[in-house]
Amino acid sequence: MLAECDTGWEQLWKEGMTPWNMGEPSPPLVTLFERHAVDISGLADTTNKKALVPGCGEGHDVVYLAAKGYQATGVDISPTAVEVCRKVVHAQKAGSSAHFMLANFFADPLDEPYDLIFDYTFLCAIQPEQRNEWGRRMAELIRPGGLLITLMFPLDPSLLTGPPFGLSVEIYHQLLSPAFDVVFEDQDFPSAPGREGRERLVVWRRR
Ligand SMILES: C[S@@+](CC[C@H](N)C(=O)[O-])C[C@H]1O[C@@H](n2cnc3c(N)ncnc32)[C@H](O)[C@@H]1O
Repeated sequence: MLAECDTGWEQLWKEGMTPWNMGEPSPPLVTLFERHAVDISGLADTTNKKALVPGCGEGHDVVYLAAKGYQATGVDISPTAVEVCRKVVHAQKAGSSAHFMLANFFADPLDEPYDLIFDYTFLCAIQPEQRNEWGRRMAELIRPGGLLITLMFPLDPSLLTGPPFGLSVEIYHQLLSPAFDVVFEDQDFPSAPGREGRERLVVWRRR
């Protein structure tokens, strides 16, 4: 089923108003794989493993996970974003293990279950009243034993009008503790300019 397009996001994509876009894989994700993947059981062994990036934007993190060996899927609600993703894959000759889906994370079937999900600038992009559903959906999409990487951002609860809506470490714990345990945390990584000190990476395992 095709996603009902949220016209707000599609409009931003059409106008090229995508200030969140870095044009490259998220540096903390790259650092996680380069420095710590072997220490987190199940992360480095990517054979026949499926990864999902919700609200994937231009898809650079999807291409990165595909290059690491995952069958990686990016999902976005904006048709223009998905079109851009396909061009990025083509330009980078990323091969067939990076796929993109036009869908609504909350409402559409997403070819679950997944071994890994990476969330960055997606929780902060949705309306605060959708957050409980975000946590419930993560638990539904990840198989028992699978991993969720949350790159928490922006850790600034004073940001009340969004997107991006400000978040806190406590909010992530409230949403995920019912179904996930923390297996790794890191704050010692290079952030994109302007994001320094406002993000933390936490890896969770689905019970
Ligand atoms: C702030 S952007 C972040 C993009 C990307 N993660 C990045 O860091 O560059 C949020 C993205 O989520 C998408 N989005 C918003 N609501 C969505 C939904 N319900 N399902 C899927 N994608 C959604 C938007 O179209 C947008 O591309």
